[in-house]
Amino acid sequence: MYLVIFCLFLHSLIFCDQFDFSNAKALHGYNIQHASVNEFPFIVSIQISLQKESAPFHICTGVLVSRIHVVFAEHCLEEQQYKYSVLVVKSIKSQKRLSHATCWMITYNQWCKQKSITMQYQTNDIAIFKLAQAVDNHVNPALISNIPNNFLYGLNVTIASWDKTNYNEDSITINYGYVTVLTDSECENQCSEILGEKVTLPTIMLCTAVKPYVLLNIEDSGGPLLYNGVFIGLNAGSCPCEDAVYHPRKLNIHFSINYYKNFIIDIKENCI
Ligand SMILES: *[C@@H]1O[C@H](CO)[C@@H](O)[C@H](O)[C@H]1NC(C)=O
Repeated sequence: MYLVIFCLFLHSLIFCDQFDFSNAKALHGYNIQHASVNEFPFIVSIQISLQKESAPFHICTGVLVSRIHVVFAEHCLEEQQYKYSVLVVKSIKSQKRLSHATCWMITYNQWCKQKSITMQYQTNDIAIFKLAQAVDNHVNPALISNIPNNFLYGLNVTIASWDKTNYNEDSITINYGYVTVLTDSECENQCSEILGEKVTLPTIMLCTAVKPYVLLNIEDSGGPLLYNGVFIGLNAGSCPCEDAVYHPRKLNIHFSINYYKNFIIDIKENCI
């Protein structure tokens, strides 16, 4: 039996965040850059408003895998389903709301159940929602990885997330940085060392780090990990987990998109 001690950002902090937007910076560490308007058009901000009249606010990052399908971290909306009145996505290119969602949403676990697929792991914080209206033609969706994890070890990849720096909607932008993909054993050893107990990385996950560090914050779940512009991972958590814990050897944890590609491709092709 394996033990997941890696902390996944499964608790939605949306309602705590609401009162502390100043801390909602995307990523932390060194050499973090702001994307220009032509970069990462497929990374969207998922926004909700709690009342019809109020302006929507950013809750988490999502990735367009087609012009109507957004991959995101399931936990981001699960507690909120009945609470919001408006749900929109916004892309950096136009800096305006693209579409109202969600007429429809499916999680990986629901899809496996429908298809009678036995899940290798129970914890799959990944879901897709369909926009009511396709995004503009000039917004190209992300390419879905079919690259096996072991091909990625040691490579320099991009970690990205929406940044919400203050209350002003228009100041939302994307931050990104470069990190290296660790092998499973490098990752397990480093994490075990930090935590003082044996840790095993599930094969559905990728682990990244860099010196000087670039680290995910809890608000960054659902943002992508990219290799040459290909969507290879969904930001999932860190080791050790708490945002407050500073450790120079802290690691980023991502769900490996290669593992979920059948899910994404099936929904993209058959649920339009
Ligand atoms: C990763 O690639 C970027 C862009 O080419 C470069 O600026 C950065 O120094 C590289 N980082 C590492 C750790 O190799």
